[in-house]
Amino acid sequence: MNILVTGGCGFIGSNFIMHMIKKYPDYKIVNLDKLTYAGNQENLRNIEKNKNYTFIKGDICNEKIVNKALKNIDLIVHFAAESHVDKSIISREDFIKTNINGTYNLLNCAMKNNIRFHHISTDEVFGSLEINSQKKFDENTAYEPNSIYSASKASSDHLVRAFHRTYGLPVTEKIELK
Ligand SMILES: NC(=O)c1ccc[n+]([C@@H]2O[C@H](COP(=O)([O-])OP(=O)(O)OC[C@H]3O[C@@H](n4cnc5c(N)ncnc54)[C@H](O)[C@@H]3O)[C@@H](O)[C@H]2O)c1
Repeated sequence: MNILVTGGCGFIGSNFIMHMIKKYPDYKIVNLDKLTYAGNQENLRNIEKNKNYTFIKGDICNEKIVNKALKNIDLIVHFAAESHVDKSIISREDFIKTNINGTYNLLNCAMKNNIRFHHISTDEVFGSLEINSQKKFDENTAYEPNSIYSASKASSDHLVRAFHRTYGLPVTEKIELK
């Protein structure tokens, strides 16, 4: 299995890569990351020389780079995002570009090559709960994004769904948690 991980130098993506390299020593992992202020290659220092790991510095919005990174890939695991709510209040553009346009570009490229897409969303698409609220979000909760960050993530979720429903792109579908 060959996996393209986007945003693999970030907080969650780097832990995912470390986990996968250890647990599945036969898998090949390609990490496509733009190395924004949130990306840190130190997170992957322990595995950077592993023969099954390749790093590509690049932007998910760049079609040429994404197509190149997708060579021989079976699965895309998409973490790359502008992920900090506070930053989205003052730097809206970056969130629209990466979270919406970047995801759209990845989906287009995935579709051309019929590559399975696993998208990482956030609970913030469901809005917020009062402190001490007894309510809980689940996968059936209506979307109520309140920030530019969560609105851009919600948009990307809907794009993934639409590519699946409209074009049959293989994606990870809703999993009911018991
Ligand atoms: N951290 C959380 O608490 C949390 C909670 C729920 C969901 N999420 C989601 O999980 C995913 C990962 O979150 P995180 O906390 O690891 O994020 P992070 O901000 O730590 O890392 C994001 C990574 O994406 C890279 N990146 C940003 N823009 C890029 C672009 N245009 N092209 C390529 N790479 C780019 C950055 O360099 C960085 O390495 C995000 O999609 C986020 O929305 C995070």
